[in-house]
Amino acid sequence: MKNIDKLSLENAYRLFETGDINSMEIGTTKGLQQIHHYLFNGLYEFAGEIRTLNIAKGNFRFANSLYLKEILVKIEQMPENTFEEIITKYVEMNIAHPFMEGNGRTMRIWLDMLLKTRLKKVVNWQHVSKELYLQAMERSPINDLELRTLLTANLTDDIDNREIIFKGIEQSYYYEGYEKGNDDVKD
Ligand SMILES: Nc1ncnc2c1ncn2[C@@H]1O[C@H](COP(=O)(O)OP(=O)(O)OP(=O)(O)O)[C@@H](O)[C@H]1O
Ligand SMILES: [Mg+2]
Repeated sequence: MKNIDKLSLENAYRLFETGDINSMEIGTTKGLQQIHHYLFNGLYEFAGEIRTLNIAKGNFRFANSLYLKEILVKIEQMPENTFEEIITKYVEMNIAHPFMEGNGRTMRIWLDMLLKTRLKKVVNWQHVSKELYLQAMERSPINDLELRTLLTANLTDDIDNREIIFKGIEQSYYYEGYEKGNDDVKD
């Protein structure tokens, strides 16, 4: 794990430990930027900032930076009343991928706060396999059924359980390459 990721993980713990998470906007672009800024402030110069360059992952090109601001306005107006609507909104936000780096980790927290506020549920990420999750995310711009199935099976109403929250954060950083006890530098 790179040092940046380790320091960011500490920021993520602190976000929940201090209760600062409760001052972040729910379901908006601003809320997403607030979380990103919290996780990466001092680590990336673009912490909390919407990207102005184009990026891709695998064969997938995320939203063109020329239209990104308008797209984000539309996404934050999307409904978020049901699980299906919230996942659709999350998938669109992933397609937008507003930051140069750190989108996955930021968006999983943003998604959980949406689910918590609207449905009184959160994802129990510790039980969501990295392989299945990344496969479902890759598939999601075309069809989000896999993602819905995977996350539905791992929803919990134990929303204030510290262990679930903190193990979930660790799992989210593990999706990005972190493994406990492994301090190798990798990307
Ligand atoms: N091929 C793909 N198409 C669409 N979305 C993808 C694809 N591959 C990965 N993703 C999503 O993008 C996220 C990675 O984005 P990014 O690298 O900006 O975020 P990160 O926080 O640094 O990484 P990670 O999510 O791995 O922790 C993944 O977590 C996943 O949700
Ligand atoms: Mg990454």
